[in-house]
Amino acid sequence: MNSKTMRAVGVLPMKREVRLVEHVTPQLSADHQVKVRALEVGICGTDKEICHFVYGSPPEGFEYLVIGHESLGEVTEVGSKVRGLKKGDLVVPSVRRPCPHAQCQPCRDERQDFCATGDFTERGIKMRHGFMTEFYVEEEEFLNPVPANLRDVGVLVEPLTVAEKGLEQVWQVQKRLPWIKENAPADARGTGLNAVVLGAGPIGILGAMTLVRHGFRTYVYSRSQKPNPKAELVESFGATYLSAETVSVEELANQVGNIDLVYEGVGLSKISYDVMKVLGMNGVFVFTGIPAPRPAIPIEADIIMRNMVLKNQLAVGTVNADRKAFEDAISDLGIFMKRWPDALKSVITGRFTLDNYQELLLGDKSGIKNVIALD
Ligand code: BGC
Ligand code: ZN
Repeated sequence: MNSKTMRAVGVLPMKREVRLVEHVTPQLSADHQVKVRALEVGICGTDKEICHFVYGSPPEGFEYLVIGHESLGEVTEVGSKVRGLKKGDLVVPSVRRPCPHAQCQPCRDERQDFCATGDFTERGIKMRHGFMTEFYVEEEEFLNPVPANLRDVGVLVEPLTVAEKGLEQVWQVQKRLPWIKENAPADARGTGLNAVVLGAGPIGILGAMTLVRHGFRTYVYSRSQKPNPKAELVESFGATYLSAETVSVEELANQVGNIDLVYEGVGLSKISYDVMKVLGMNGVFVFTGIPAPRPAIPIEADIIMRNMVLKNQLAVGTVNADRKAFEDAISDLGIFMKRWPDALKSVITGRFTLDNYQELLLGDKSGIKNVIALD
């Protein structure tokens, strides 16, 4: 391979192809930029949908999009104005980049996760190349330093930001309940509250860890019956696993008591709206999944609407993550690593090479989080 190009996994929506491409090796071209060697890249449902051409679009002038948005990398070179990073540091990049419009207050305020115009871009997803390749260049402001002791699990930072932003949204909206102590230590904020996590994939499991760490009594409600490896994993860090095949939604509610929080990490509307019926007093339902479009389903709208009013409930959707969510994810990952090292490491169920991209992206490889390791 010549030194000016490198291998990358490209998606070609116009040709409906996913293949290895020779991509130009990026070089620093501005003082605030950082060159990063990719160490690991995680694969998620979004990547699979992009590979089935549900969404995802190449940058202007390219017929392919380099995919991959869950990256852990190592700094190899820094521009002259980079202050906070040096060669050898571990970093995780954020995903979304602001839209160009002067009137978009969220983007102008570094909150592109709330972009109001829809003209944001996302690395590896929307009009910007991603990280499933050997090197990338990024502005320092979009890179988050990761301590060296998180080398083995740092690739989980990006999927963990989903829970971190979600939980931050919960505290923001629950400011409506004046007795909730805003400044309680993180460990204690959820004390006395019950949380139900829907789904035991990576988003559900990392969400459950986050909720346990923040003091919630946490239940994971997922399809497969016990015993199964995911149930063992979630119970090893203090959550309770309940199978939707053996425990009905009503039984779930009886067992949990008042459901103060539902954290949806399953991406399926049917089970989500079934569980919404048993959300508790003053409860919050957080949606994080992006269901693929399917025919309409009946939902018990009267019960749900009645409850939302009579029980002061709130449903909130959350996408993407701001800088604080990345910082919180990195510090919580350090805490998980101390408290539950084995459970945390076992979230990563397989490490593969770039050559395995087809089975990982297009096959039905099982496991929780599969990653491509590049070194
Ligand atoms: C990524 C987000 C992104 C979203 C929608 C998710 O998989 O984690 O950063 O905003 O997809 O494109
Ligand atoms: Zn915007």
